[in-house]
Amino acid sequence: MIVPLLSLPPEAIEQLLDAAFGEDRHGRTAYAIRQGAAWLPRLSFGLVDDAGALIGTLQSWPVALTMDSGEQQPLIMIGPVAVQPAFQRGGHGRALMDAVVAAARAQATEPLMMIGDPEYYGRFWGFCADGTAGWDAPGPFDPRRLLALSVDGRAIGGNGMLGPRIPARA
Ligand SMILES: CC(C)(COP(=O)(O)OP(=O)(O)OC[C@H]1O[C@@H](n2cnc3c(N)ncnc32)[C@H](O)[C@@H]1OP(=O)(O)O)[C@@H](O)C(=O)NCCC(=O)NCCS
Repeated sequence: MIVPLLSLPPEAIEQLLDAAFGEDRHGRTAYAIRQGAAWLPRLSFGLVDDAGALIGTLQSWPVALTMDSGEQQPLIMIGPVAVQPAFQRGGHGRALMDAVVAAARAQATEPLMMIGDPEYYGRFWGFCADGTAGWDAPGPFDPRRLLALSVDGRAIGGNGMLGPRIPARA
């Protein structure tokens, strides 16, 4: 069953992420892109079994592409998407991603982006690297794994650096 991530204990989420990615996961480029941001409750989900045990998690974050002009193009970063190793390849990752893409479309959010396998995220949801060729990140990444998906027809492109969103000055 898919539930809001906010309904789950933070320690259980962290344990699952350690199991799926290893405890050295915090040095990954994806973490640097969203550094200091808080995940978005309306676009973050957990997947629990009938006994309430946590099987999978998906978090979404407010990030932005900062262009040379200093202007920011807001984006939503998806990830990590993680399924308990013993339950992988059982459709759970797909269910979590279906939930976030449907929620993002319903909310007409900013474009979604992630670092992930195009063979998976392209196949089911249409994420692709076509519009991200001009994007840079604060750490190493494979350009073919820097993926984006527009949920409301907004164009994806531009040149700049990915990072946290800076709130506009009043
Ligand atoms: C990647 C992950 C989220 C996928 O979730 P899952 O529940 O294991 O996979 P699903 O059951 O949704 O997979 C559906 C299909 O996609 C395929 N698939 C799964 N992961 C894939 C990948 N990384 N690349 C290509 N295909 C993949 C499956 O084989 C399956 O194919 P089939 O329908 O032809 O049998 C999960 O395996 C995981 O947590 N892995 C470790 C952490 C990770 O790498 N996360 C992604 C980076 S953000």
